[in-house]
Amino acid sequence: MQLFFISLLLLLLFVINSSRADNTTPFGYCPSSVCDNGLNISYPFWRFDNYNSTSPQYCGYPGFGINCSQSDSILYISDDSFNVTKINYNNLSLTLVDIDAVDHRGCPRVHHNLTLNDDLPFEYSKLDLYLNFYYNCTVSLPGYADRLDCLTTSGKSSYFYVGDYEPEDLKWYGICEKKVVVPVKDAGLIRGSVGAAIGEGFVLDWQIAKECGKCEASQGRCGYDNSTHESLCFCNDGTIKFDTCNQGNFFQEFNLLIFFSFLYY
Ligand SMILES: *[C@@H]1O[C@H](CO)[C@@H](O)[C@H](O)[C@H]1NC(C)=O
Ligand SMILES: *[C@@H]1O[C@H](CO)[C@@H](O)[C@H](O)[C@H]1NC(C)=O
Ligand SMILES: *[C@@H]1O[C@H](CO)[C@@H](O)[C@H](O)[C@H]1NC(C)=O
Ligand SMILES: *[C@@H]1O[C@H](CO)[C@@H](O)[C@H](O)[C@H]1NC(C)=O
Ligand SMILES: *[C@@H]1O[C@H](CO)[C@@H](O)[C@H](O)[C@H]1NC(C)=O
Ligand SMILES: *[C@@H]1O[C@H](CO)[C@@H](O)[C@H](O)[C@H]1NC(C)=O
Ligand SMILES: *[C@@H]1O[C@H](CO)[C@@H](O)[C@H](O)[C@H]1NC(C)=O
Ligand SMILES: *[C@@H]1O[C@H](CO)[C@@H](O)[C@H](O)[C@H]1NC(C)=O
Repeated sequence: MQLFFISLLLLLLFVINSSRADNTTPFGYCPSSVCDNGLNISYPFWRFDNYNSTSPQYCGYPGFGINCSQSDSILYISDDSFNVTKINYNNLSLTLVDIDAVDHRGCPRVHHNLTLNDDLPFEYSKLDLYLNFYYNCTVSLPGYADRLDCLTTSGKSSYFYVGDYEPEDLKWYGICEKKVVVPVKDAGLIRGSVGAAIGEGFVLDWQIAKECGKCEASQGRCGYDNSTHESLCFCNDGTIKFDTCNQGNFFQEFNLLIFFSFLYY
């Protein structure tokens, strides 16, 4: 009886090990590629422009699709377009430039706030500073806010202020038409004008997407099926699972059961 259990145990260990050793097929569904402008697109980013709507599965994080065209590589965040100029896969950070804000002959004209909603695992980097713009103000703002001469028209002036928090006495509401907050790289602002800093962009850090933790912990790469709206896990052996490449749960429990019954005998 004991001999039977020992051989069963060995057999199981063999089956599990041999299935784990089979990692000869790399992630065929998660290719790296390079945009025309030279940007390297690798997991967890993916090519929006290669996306095939008849087989709507992709390997990469939802929201991390990049649309490469001749010179741009565009990431969409809450319907706004950002040109991705750098991706650092070692410290998980990327540099973005607001398409809407560049090239107004050095005069910053930013129309919208960047809204990082909880669906995307992005965070502002420590390298960023915040520019607060106050457009079309009918009364002068306090002296610590700089006036933008290029945006002054018929009695209305626009201002900007650099800082994470707005001073309490900066009461713009009712005085200015609009406030917009724009992140820029700290270093960009030190080097040049406000307009140039916006052109250099800002940095976001990314984290492991919450639905991808289990998959990545099992050495898989996370993806999504846009027709079934389900997360996928692309495994090194070429298979596609739902949340993890360790199909071990059943085997591990069975193993444990055998181990205990073995001890019992
Ligand atoms: C792109 O970056 C990935 C991850 O760093 C790397 O494995 C791959 O070799 C790079 N591809 C090219 C063409 O540089
Ligand atoms: C899209 O995928 C379908 C099904 O896999 C395939 O038949 C078709 O050729 C693909 N289209 C393109 C443009 O790659
Ligand atoms: C990608 O960019 C091209 C060129 O700018 C545009 O025609 C296309 O609609 C974009 N694709 C998506 C999915 O937004
Ligand atoms: C986007 O960035 C690339 C460099 O990464 C640059 O060549 C291109 O001109 C930029 N596009 C726009 C619209 O700023
Ligand atoms: C990430 O690494 C790049 C270059 O290796 C560096 O310039 C950048 O400051 C780093 N980012 C952060 C947030 O540490
Ligand atoms: C400021 O006012 C000018 C002229 O009335 C207008 O063209 C412009 O769009 C306004 N700017 C903002 C940011 O509202
Ligand atoms: C941008 O965000 C600030 C708060 O951070 C808010 O006061 C302002 O009204 C917002 N502007 C727009 C155009 O939504
Ligand atoms: C996924 O499907 C939705 C509609 O269900 C569509 O709006 C969206 O563009 C699709 N995503 C991609 C990456 O094509």
